[in-house]
Amino acid sequence: MVDTSTLGRFHYQRLDFKRWVPILLTSHKTLFTVLWIAAFASVFVWQRSIVGGFLVFGRVTVAARPIPKLRPVAFNLTDFGGVGDGVTLNTEAFERAISAISKLGKKGGGQINVPPGRWLTAPFNLTSHMTLFLAEDAVILGLDDEKYWPLMPPLPSYGYGREHPGPRYGSLIHGQNLKDIVITGHNGTINGQGQAWWKKYRQKRLNHTRGPLVQFMWSSDIVISNITLRDSPFWTLHPYDCKNITIKHVTILAPVFKAPNTDGIDPGKYILLNSCEDMLIEDCYISTGDDAIAIKSGWDQYGIAYGRPSKNIMIRNLVVRSMVSAGVSIGSEMSGGVFNVTVENLHVWDSRRAVRIKTAPGRGGYVRQITYRNLTFENVRVGIVMKTDYNEHPDDGYDRTALPILKDISFTTVHGRGVRVPVRIHGSEEIPVRNVTFQDMSIGLTYKKKHIFQCAFVQGRVIGAIFPAPCENLDRYNEQGKLVKHSASHNVTDIDYDF
Ligand SMILES: *[C@@H]1O[C@H](CO)[C@@H](O)[C@H](O)[C@H]1NC(C)=O
Ligand SMILES: *[C@@H]1O[C@H](CO)[C@@H](O)[C@H](O)[C@H]1NC(C)=O
Ligand SMILES: *[C@@H]1O[C@H](CO)[C@@H](O)[C@H](O)[C@H]1NC(C)=O
Ligand SMILES: *[C@@H]1O[C@H](CO)[C@@H](O)[C@H](O)[C@H]1NC(C)=O
Ligand SMILES: *[C@@H]1O[C@H](CO)[C@@H](O)[C@H](O)[C@H]1NC(C)=O
Ligand SMILES: *[C@@H]1O[C@H](CO)[C@@H](O)[C@H](O)[C@H]1NC(C)=O
Ligand SMILES: *[C@@H]1O[C@H](CO)[C@@H](O)[C@H](O)[C@H]1NC(C)=O
Ligand SMILES: *[C@@H]1O[C@H](CO)[C@@H](O)[C@H](O)[C@H]1NC(C)=O
Ligand SMILES: *[C@@H]1O[C@H](CO)[C@@H](O)[C@H](O)[C@H]1NC(C)=O
Ligand SMILES: *[C@@H]1O[C@H](CO)[C@@H](O)[C@H](O)[C@H]1NC(C)=O
Repeated sequence: MVDTSTLGRFHYQRLDFKRWVPILLTSHKTLFTVLWIAAFASVFVWQRSIVGGFLVFGRVTVAARPIPKLRPVAFNLTDFGGVGDGVTLNTEAFERAISAISKLGKKGGGQINVPPGRWLTAPFNLTSHMTLFLAEDAVILGLDDEKYWPLMPPLPSYGYGREHPGPRYGSLIHGQNLKDIVITGHNGTINGQGQAWWKKYRQKRLNHTRGPLVQFMWSSDIVISNITLRDSPFWTLHPYDCKNITIKHVTILAPVFKAPNTDGIDPGKYILLNSCEDMLIEDCYISTGDDAIAIKSGWDQYGIAYGRPSKNIMIRNLVVRSMVSAGVSIGSEMSGGVFNVTVENLHVWDSRRAVRIKTAPGRGGYVRQITYRNLTFENVRVGIVMKTDYNEHPDDGYDRTALPILKDISFTTVHGRGVRVPVRIHGSEEIPVRNVTFQDMSIGLTYKKKHIFQCAFVQGRVIGAIFPAPCENLDRYNEQGKLVKHSASHNVTDIDYDF
């Protein structure tokens, strides 16, 4: 919706002005005032031409960085009637720009430049072969009135909206069955204005699952880089059944809440991958309430039927904080399977948990070939977590005998300080954790010395010396890879959630 009334008002004022000028000029006093204003204005214009591009919103700052042309055709959002005043609704401007790009066909596509300003919009859909470029100080603001948010069917591998049965709200920026999308910029921002949504969710005033900030479904060849995402109503960035995605130099921010879930505010996962393959997430900073990154692949019978794993995922050079949840999570919905995931050079600070794998009977599927390398934990409550009784189910239709497989998981070079429980691997008789490897680990503890390497139903090995000393479930090898001590039982249980 473009606000054409502004244009009308301006036109009207000009007519008014013509009518008043002769009357005002009859007085010497007003003539003097007019001349004075004219003189002042010319000095101002002269000054402005000197400082050139240095004026941004009337205050003198550094020169605005020129926007690179990344596609054969580039549009300015203002070409389509966009107004960046934080009040005017720009949904139609975005839609018209995207429609213009969709007509360019595959010959390189088109680019939309979002200049500095605050660009309020309701949800809109992207098209293939496009680049959305957010200038420095450009902010896309999500309209926080759910009446403008379209409803969509639940994710097929979930069967249900995550918070309510039936349809869910779509995302602010949405893409479906697309190819070749870039969202980038000079660190401009997409702001979901989640506050109103969180409040309504807490007060149970929403009848549908909240919408994500940016969501792609069944799409490929996507690059998201050099932008900031903040205050999403729900999940922040959610690729669903997508292929070949790079997320790089992205900052994700949301309030971090001191009180865990009890306050009921749940901004949602930050980067949530569902049944995606060939993904690279690197050089990102994420500070949030819920999981910073969650890798999933469908929920119980719906996920088993959909049958699409998340695979070939590289996550590296990340700094994350997750006050109430985990830095990088796999599951608990993993019914389509998760494999070949590498997490390296990860720094987790001031968080509840650092890395976690969770599942439950009924999920089916598997989590395997997971490599963690060079992890740093700083002030986290629990470092490494695996949990096999995360009993949340979409409905009663799940098959309790569909038992997930957890195996081939390795941790190499794990350091940290201020950690309460460095390791808690809670396998079960039904879902034992198999072939876990630890090598080169030294984690500084907060205080206690007992129950700090907690295990149950886990089989695996430790290579060389590690600190803290491992649980007795694991076999010990020396640095040369020679077996030193065989574990007497993998089933020993030492899990203490109170600690
Ligand atoms: C976009 O249009 C606005 C208003 O006309 C202008 O100030 C800005 O410089 C333009 N930006 C680009 C990148 O063309
Ligand atoms: C975006 O496209 C999807 C799929 O066609 C549709 O359900 C949704 O309503 C569209 N969203 C908007 C804002 O037009
Ligand atoms: C991008 O903007 C965010 C939010 O203002 C800021 O925290 C971050 O440091 C910025 N990143 C860069 C590279 O300037
Ligand atoms: C939710 O549903 C109730 C009952 O049908 C209705 O009164 C209310 O307006 C709905 N709320 C929203 C936000 O749609
Ligand atoms: C992945 O996407 C990028 C960016 O669109 C593209 O350059 C690259 O060719 C794609 N890779 C494959 C294997 O398709
Ligand atoms: C993206 O951000 C990184 C880190 O701030 C910076 O080094 C790089 O030059 C940026 N790229 C562009 C195209 O601005
Ligand atoms: C595992 O994933 C990486 C990307 O992280 C990929 O380069 C590699 O080829 C994958 N390995 C297999 C065996 O598919
Ligand atoms: C390990 O990760 C940290 C960041 O968390 C990085 O500074 C360091 O260079 C990495 N070490 C290696 C050997 O890659
Ligand atoms: C155990 O897992 C490692 C990877 O962590 C893998 O290289 C190895 O082949 C696995 N061992 C068995 C017996 O499957
Ligand atoms: C340990 O548990 C496994 C099942 O996970 C079972 O097959 C095995 O018999 C148990 N061993 C002992 C000694 O209880």
